Amino acid sequence: MSSHTQSVKRLTAPEIYARKGQTPLVCLTAYSAPMAEILDEACDILLVGDSVGMVVHGLPSTIGVTMEMMILHGQAVMRGAKKAFVVVDMPFGSYEAGPEQAFANAVRILKETGAQAVKLESGPTVHDTISYLTQRGIPVMGHVGLRPQAVNVDGGFKAKGRTQAERDKVLQEARDSDAAGAFAIVVEGVAADLAGEITAAVKAPTIGIGASAACDGQILVVDDMLGQFDWSPKFVRRYAALRETISEAAEGYAKDVRARDFPAPQETYFAK
Ligand code: KIV
Repeated sequence: MSSHTQSVKRLTAPEIYARKGQTPLVCLTAYSAPMAEILDEACDILLVGDSVGMVVHGLPSTIGVTMEMMILHGQAVMRGAKKAFVVVDMPFGSYEAGPEQAFANAVRILKETGAQAVKLESGPTVHDTISYLTQRGIPVMGHVGLRPQAVNVDGGFKAKGRTQAERDKVLQEARDSDAAGAFAIVVEGVAADLAGEITAAVKAPTIGIGASAACDGQILVVDDMLGQFDWSPKFVRRYAALRETISEAAEGYAKDVRARDFPAPQETYFAK
């Protein structure tokens, strides 16, 4: 009963779906319990993105991310977030073989983390897979445009929609995800006009990252937004300068330790 009461307080997939064209949805990635606890109040959705592989584990792309990593970080975020709707990314290789593989892995993610939904990047089987999952009780967030898991076929992290053929493909994938029952669709790395076209074409709210204000909501990688890296893409706005703050704190600590100024008596235990 208590866990049921707790889950009722969280936003739900239908509530998010109903936000189409309303107040923009506020979304950030989160990978740890303390960060999820801090972000929870401000955000509608916390995404345990497979970007965790690059942001936290220092991988060159998201290709090496495993189910175990997503589950571990999903569990941590669920311990920290009480109100936000939590979505966990399906890692590369966990859903592309077909709907049944996707279902087995999505069930594992939801059961082992307690999160409410999964996200998967679009591809040739996107309609069948999203439809299979949603019909079996699994809310799915789609992801079109720049697909980080396609880095090896695309030859890098490249914005999408530069040619008419590419625009048509991205638009069709968004329509397919929508028709298959996605409750929201991430649109990544596309020009403003294409983002607007997609947003107008689908019933589900679109959540943009590098996809202009035309979308129904926005998402950023939290560490980018907090200024933890020395470089960030053009579409990121930094709301803090965490890299400088952490660096200054570490320098200050090192100076105090070397000068035997830390710990001081007030930071020391003494025998009574
Ligand atoms: O993995 C991730 O963080 C994402 C967002 C960038 C949308 O997919």
